[in-house]
Amino acid sequence: MGCTLSSPNVNPDLAVSEEKVSPSLEDVLDLTSDLQCRVDEELQESFVLSEAQKELIRTSWEILHKDIARVGVIVFIRLFETHPECKDAFFLFRNIDDFQQLKMSKELQAHGLRVMSFIEKSVGRLDQTDKLEHLAFELGRSHCRYQAPPKYYEYLGTQFIQVVQPILKEEWTPEVEKAWESLFKYLAATMRRGFDAEEKTSAGQSLHSGKAGVESTLNRV
Ligand code: HEM
Repeated sequence: MGCTLSSPNVNPDLAVSEEKVSPSLEDVLDLTSDLQCRVDEELQESFVLSEAQKELIRTSWEILHKDIARVGVIVFIRLFETHPECKDAFFLFRNIDDFQQLKMSKELQAHGLRVMSFIEKSVGRLDQTDKLEHLAFELGRSHCRYQAPPKYYEYLGTQFIQVVQPILKEEWTPEVEKAWESLFKYLAATMRRGFDAEEKTSAGQSLHSGKAGVESTLNRV
């Protein structure tokens, strides 16, 4: 189908022919898809990090990466404290209410480390936006299989920013905060597109196979 509204030779105002008094279902679906593409493009455009911002992220990551195991755990503990519904997405954590026990959990430590390694990969790809986009898009796809919905993704960025602030001490400035915020917004938006794409694929497949809905991947944690 593609994004016809953004194609160079198509006038968006004429996307639906004036001769058709009532548009067919196909026209409506095309138009909906085009609007979604336009929204997606706007979300994609949110990755407008200046060279200075990229440098701020790289420099602060150099300090932070020594602490990633600890940062990863605290970010998730705070995420679960502020948004307990996120804990339900994790098979192994959903029944643990004692945060002290959770903090000591080897599985949570391993998970925090996996997520921080993803952030490290992203920081390493700030100049390769196509690779970064692919990475985040595929992660969104896998989150659809984990049944972890997009509305929560940005919360992780908020918690990350709060956790790393005291570690960076005087290196933390409003500019550093804005740079990290932009990166997390971009990651969350791209993951959302991956999630939506996976959801559509799964819906199509289940229509053909007669099975209902998105089938979740069994979470390791
Ligand atoms: C910017 C936001 C987030 C990032 C970058 C992120 C990153 C990751 C990464 C790197 C993994 C490891 C597995 C893989 O690569 O597929 C993972 C797994 C997972 N994430 Fe996230 N995540 C984010 C937000 C969330 C949120 C908010 C939730 C819960 C609502 C969540 C739920 C899960 C679950 C359930 C798994 C599977 C755990 C497992 O079985 O190992 N994620 N995530």
